[in-house]
Amino acid sequence: MSASAALQAWAARGLDLEALARQWVVQEELAVPTDRLPLAVAPYDHVEVAEAIATLLEGRLTMGARVRAFEDAWAAEVGAAHCVMVNSGSSALLVMLSALVATGRLSPGDEVLVPAVGWSTSLFSVAQAGLTPVLVDVDADSLCLEGAHDRPVLALHLLGQPSRATGPLVIEDACGAHGARVGDRPVGSLGVAAAFSFFFSHHLTTGEGGAVTMQDRDLADACRSVRAHGWTRERSDRAWMEQAYGEIDPRFLFVTPGFNLRPTEVAGAFGVHQVGRLQGYVARRNQNHREWCAAVADLGLPLRVFPELPGTTHAGFAFPMLLDADAPLDRAELCRRLEARGVQTRPISGSNLARQPAFEAVPRARVEGALPVADAVHSRGIFVGQSHAFDQRHLDLLLDALKAALLR
Ligand SMILES: Cc1ncc(COP(=O)(O)O)c(C=O)c1O
Repeated sequence: MSASAALQAWAARGLDLEALARQWVVQEELAVPTDRLPLAVAPYDHVEVAEAIATLLEGRLTMGARVRAFEDAWAAEVGAAHCVMVNSGSSALLVMLSALVATGRLSPGDEVLVPAVGWSTSLFSVAQAGLTPVLVDVDADSLCLEGAHDRPVLALHLLGQPSRATGPLVIEDACGAHGARVGDRPVGSLGVAAAFSFFFSHHLTTGEGGAVTMQDRDLADACRSVRAHGWTRERSDRAWMEQAYGEIDPRFLFVTPGFNLRPTEVAGAFGVHQVGRLQGYVARRNQNHREWCAAVADLGLPLRVFPELPGTTHAGFAFPMLLDADAPLDRAELCRRLEARGVQTRPISGSNLARQPAFEAVPRARVEGALPVADAVHSRGIFVGQSHAFDQRHLDLLLDALKAALLR
């Protein structure tokens, strides 16, 4: 990764931040362990650290040029016209859905179909934006919402597998699927808008962070207002608005209800060096996913894997598995045995969100139809880590641990 203009400028002044960071980054802390299978590894190196130090030395803490550069690069990467960076994937969902309401694409109370298997804030944000979340079951092979629907859909790309759901409005939750594709279209360009997360464990990271991508300028402008206090700064139509409301000081002109969900410039500093890594990372994760699915299936154990589906590119965010209903042990015992051999495990995201205690408190939320797949995932699904940095040694670790756990 080449140095940014800022790093070159510091080097010209006699401070080679990249060399400094290369020398002082604690390699053991960022190294990929080969004696265990963690959920994630640190997907950054010294250049992100150097860029972050540069922002601090320059006295730039709040979002600025680096955040804008990252937004431009990420929009180009996913084939969107605009990108608005925020401080988490959950914030991206909230900003995106609120902006869809603010621009009239959705009206308060409108129903949005939400997959019953997903992340907690995927569900909460729909209600927080004043909409009505309707939980429906997921497909048994993709674990995503699939098919053609009569209402707006939250197409949640689960753990790297892209959802192909369609409806009058397709809203993407691409938080865990950077670089996944349907045909040759990357997630982020499949619907009216998409939310991404750049949390530490994701394909690319800014520590905490997120982004909304979209094609339409007015939606991007609404996201910019919703992201920051509801004010006009960063809007492309700012001049027009300031003229229309000439009696109000333009520095504090609030045009839509909003939050403060802005990222820091340090997050932008990480992001600008991360985007170029995506294609290589996803190629490796995709290859790993295929190999792991084939190798685990070959063991003939009482569990199933979720191979990439035809016409899609799996981004290999994590590696999900589903215990057979008649397996000789339950999910808790499987997790215990895998963890004892250094394989970290998690349930498949929020599993059946309708069975989480918080569901009762989500305004307007309801379930439509039976949820047999979500229920199976809830009681028998797990995932283990996946990474661009994993190789045959990590697969062998997983295979040995699964055999030891299930072939007794
Ligand atoms: C599908 C999905 N949506 C939303 C989120 C929330 O992202 P964040 O943790 O950045 O808030 C996640 C987190 O992993 C996720 O997997």
